[in-house]
Amino acid sequence: MSPVRPADLPLSLYLHWPWCVRKCPYCDFNSHAAPRSLDAEEYVDLVLRDLKNWAGRTSGRPLSSVFIGGGTPSLMPPEALGRLLEGADRLFPFEAGCEVTLEANPGTVDEVRFRGFRAAGVNRLSLGVQSFMDEKLRTLGRIHSSAEALRAAHHAADVFDNFNLDLMFALPGETLDEVRREVETAVSTGAAHLSFYQLTIEAGTAFAKRTPEGLPDEDLSADMADAVASGLEAAGFEHYEVSGYARPGRRCRHNLNYWTFGDYLAAGAGAHGKLTEPGGIVREMRILSPARWREAVLSTGSGVDEAHAVPAEDLPFEFMLNALRLAEGVPASLFEARTGLLLRTIEPALSELRAGGFLAPDPDLIRPTARGRAFLSDVQEAFL
Ligand SMILES: C[S@@+](CC[C@H](N)C(=O)[O-])C[C@H]1O[C@@H](n2cnc3c(N)ncnc32)[C@H](O)[C@@H]1O
Ligand code: SF4
Repeated sequence: MSPVRPADLPLSLYLHWPWCVRKCPYCDFNSHAAPRSLDAEEYVDLVLRDLKNWAGRTSGRPLSSVFIGGGTPSLMPPEALGRLLEGADRLFPFEAGCEVTLEANPGTVDEVRFRGFRAAGVNRLSLGVQSFMDEKLRTLGRIHSSAEALRAAHHAADVFDNFNLDLMFALPGETLDEVRREVETAVSTGAAHLSFYQLTIEAGTAFAKRTPEGLPDEDLSADMADAVASGLEAAGFEHYEVSGYARPGRRCRHNLNYWTFGDYLAAGAGAHGKLTEPGGIVREMRILSPARWREAVLSTGSGVDEAHAVPAEDLPFEFMLNALRLAEGVPASLFEARTGLLLRTIEPALSELRAGGFLAPDPDLIRPTARGRAFLSDVQEAFL
């Protein structure tokens, strides 16, 4: 093992807001219908207290990106969000041009609110549209209509030059033509970035208990994924990650840091952080339940549930789980720079995957081929 130089790793920050207007039936994120008595100012205070626990451990490295995710953090009053960002910046200075993303639900926003978020320091918005079709939005239990989704996208375009839309495909009863129309509508909004996720039925969700009828089969879903990719590439988007498409220069810096195995601090209920420290790579998990997380921060000042050093034998898989999501892969040297392990330790798996046509033959790169991307989880598991 060679020591990793933490100063060389980009450092990001993830802040979790666990509340939504109501819970969508397909969603297994740590998100919950907001209680009537929700106190956003208190939540902000608690997140900042929780965040303080990382102080003194980052050697003054500035933050290259901040992501406020959820849940539906656009429920936060802009003033509370401003206080959160100011407090975070005081603890961990944002570097000049730091990317600051906020997730927003089209049913919770208007232009005035967007301007408030912009003034609070947000420079990238990620809007959860899911679909531009009313019937699909109803099936998905969304709180907004298609017209509201379009209006929110247009307001986003007026206020932010850098915004993303989240959409899902392979929805109940969906046709290939409908997917093509979703792609066209999404492109027409002027979004700089689009995330197109295939709907997955996650265990424990309402959809797992009562799975909707008419889900596209595997072949049709694969054709839909191809239609998304070809439609967006024709419109000038780069398909740079499994579900991620960006206009040139507009890739999501925050997510790229996850996928290139950088470091990230995290605070808020259920948030996960990863930090490279002199003794190795540490992962910290915050308490999942917002109520229990709150109690813990109030009584001990920390929301940490569990922290552990990642054992060296887990690092190859953890690194590949991220890096292989990138269409262009990563330089082979990044494996050593990020994990501290010698490339030699994974050479047998790399050789076998290159020989099988799953990874590109270039020894200086770790890049999945089209075949590798089609069998991504098998390729990742070769590093277990
Ligand atoms: C945490 S949500 C944030 C967006 C915001 N809460 C909203 O829904 O408007 C992140 C994104 O994950 C995607 N997502 C959530 N559950 C999914 C599922 N079961 N299958 C595929 N994508 C999913 C949705 O596109 C969603 O916008
Ligand atoms: S998809 Fe978004 S709005 Fe719906 S429950 Fe999940 S986090 Fe909340």
